[in-house]
Amino acid sequence: MNEKIKNLLKKRKAIMLAHNYQPPEIQDLADLCGDSLELSIKAAQTDAEVIVFCGVHFMAETASILSPDKTVLLPRKDAGCPMADMITPEALKVSLDELTSMPVVTYVNSSASVKALSTICCTSANAIKVVNSLDATEVLMTPDRNLAKHAASHTSKKIHIWDGYCPIHDILTPEDVKKAKQEHQDAVFVAHPECRPEVLALADNVLSTSGMIRYARKSKNSAFIVGTEVGLLYPLKKANPDKNFYPASRTMECPDMKKITLHDVARSLEFMEGQVKVPENIQRPALIAVQRMIDLSL
Ligand code: 13P
Ligand code: SF4
Repeated sequence: MNEKIKNLLKKRKAIMLAHNYQPPEIQDLADLCGDSLELSIKAAQTDAEVIVFCGVHFMAETASILSPDKTVLLPRKDAGCPMADMITPEALKVSLDELTSMPVVTYVNSSASVKALSTICCTSANAIKVVNSLDATEVLMTPDRNLAKHAASHTSKKIHIWDGYCPIHDILTPEDVKKAKQEHQDAVFVAHPECRPEVLALADNVLSTSGMIRYARKSKNSAFIVGTEVGLLYPLKKANPDKNFYPASRTMECPDMKKITLHDVARSLEFMEGQVKVPENIQRPALIAVQRMIDLSL
């Protein structure tokens, strides 16, 4: 199957991007694995004609926003993100009518039509930087309440918080973390900002998925408790074969991130199935919000 996919990638002049939570066999074959920010930057810069995105729907949409002339394939159309579904453009419009005028910072884990109504996007890697870059004293952050609370604790701005959350990260409790710390007393605890504030309060560092990989590589420590989706354990170990990684909770598995198989990738490339195309009237305003974020991060 690997050879078949490699040949199809060549034939289609395609690049294969994979999120750090994807299954090992997908990550091993991808041209680039990364966090949401790294994948967005790559999607904007590649000269490939086709982007096959192994991740979830909002990631493929972001690639289509950034590269509207390219064909973007999501090998499983039903790979979504429950957090992204916790905000709609209609609901955001209602909120904006109720609030005084202020910038809207939207996490990339959102639909293109919500991005289109936003001032700027952010990812877990740059949320604090994005918020602090704004020339405003009040900001609305959507859709992740935990990321918004995390940013609020690192800014003097008043943050209005949308009540969305990632069901996978929000499930992690301080008790889970304390238990893991008890079992691995020499380990450092790294957490993703989608976790609850009381969990982040126990963390030695709060990082994006790729941030965790870099941190583990540089750290003198050799044991880490990992407070994010369990798929990250694979690239963590791959990049740091001599170090040990323990999940903060084994229940933190995102079913949507596990949907794509090698078979799906091959079928998608062979038949150009699973195309994701953001319509121009949404793509244009959404691009402004995503590009502002990228410009700030380069
Ligand atoms: P990052 O890889 O950008 O940290 O995001 C995690 C995530 O939940 C993607 O769905
Ligand atoms: Fe969405 Fe959470 Fe899954 Fe990421 S881990 S895709 S935020 S549900």
